[in-house]
Amino acid sequence: SNCGYGHAHSKIILMGEHAVVYDYPAIAIPFTSVQVRVKVQANQIGRDFIQSSIYTGPLTTVPKQMENIQALVNLTRDSFQFDRKALLIKIDSDIPAGRGMGSSAAVSVALVRAICDYFNYSISDYQLHLLVNQAEAIAHESTSGLDTLITASDKPVIYRKSQKPFNFPLDLNAYLVLADSGMEGRTQQAVSRVLQLKLQQKEFVAELMESIGNFVEQAYTAIQDKNPAELGRLMTYNHYYLNQLGVSNERLDRIINASWMAGALGAKLTGGGMGGCVITLAENLNQAKVIAKAMKQAGAHKTWTLNLNKFA
Ligand code: PMV
Repeated sequence: SNCGYGHAHSKIILMGEHAVVYDYPAIAIPFTSVQVRVKVQANQIGRDFIQSSIYTGPLTTVPKQMENIQALVNLTRDSFQFDRKALLIKIDSDIPAGRGMGSSAAVSVALVRAICDYFNYSISDYQLHLLVNQAEAIAHESTSGLDTLITASDKPVIYRKSQKPFNFPLDLNAYLVLADSGMEGRTQQAVSRVLQLKLQQKEFVAELMESIGNFVEQAYTAIQDKNPAELGRLMTYNHYYLNQLGVSNERLDRIINASWMAGALGAKLTGGGMGGCVITLAENLNQAKVIAKAMKQAGAHKTWTLNLNKFA
């Protein structure tokens, strides 16, 4: 019978996390090799039903961490006045949750797309962002909208709080290796740790933020100049400064060190830190494989590789 499909991908922050909270720029990239797929069908049982790795059952009795999904299904149906027929929603996600990879936004994006596809409705990007950001506001206390933006688009973005997001082409002859430390990221805690440090050592933190902002601008230039070596160097500096802000930890540093030792052009934590993921820049696919192996030996649970020459 009739099916609707939707998909979305993961996201990473290439550079500028934490400083972005204080209105410095950050660069975010759609990490298209890690995906979410959603399939929607009419439900024979006659009530809305969800099938996913964390929960399978009626939509009305989802666990707390899926309340945003529940709200989103109803919001989508009501907003476009779709039929109230019962839906069977199958969510299949390769994106680990709580790693700063945008998993909740990506699931939401894929879900809205699948429901709209099922009802043959062609949704605009604007409508999609509006709906998903409402669901994200339920999942996270505060949301910048960055995750929604990147998981729904295949364009890299320079993001700054006070400005409109700015898309740019990325066409580098290099590979990004993403590694899951196996530990949940603790973005909220890390953000308040930075704030505490800022209250205690105002000038020191202001200098770090200023430097991170400069690295991000230089990284953008390196990308335009197609200079992976320079980008890698800046990523490593960025990590050193994040470390000074107190948002790295031993586990992340061990994985980062291993990738440096394996010959990476650069490496840093990505996202909120205190857990979560690490990103590494590699010169070629062969090096990316060597680095991925080294990161696993240093404790990474999983790695993914992304070719950076396809975002032109
Ligand atoms: O952990 P993520 O990918 O959601 O990123 C958090 C980024 C921070 O700059 C640390 C916080 C923020 O709200 O921008």
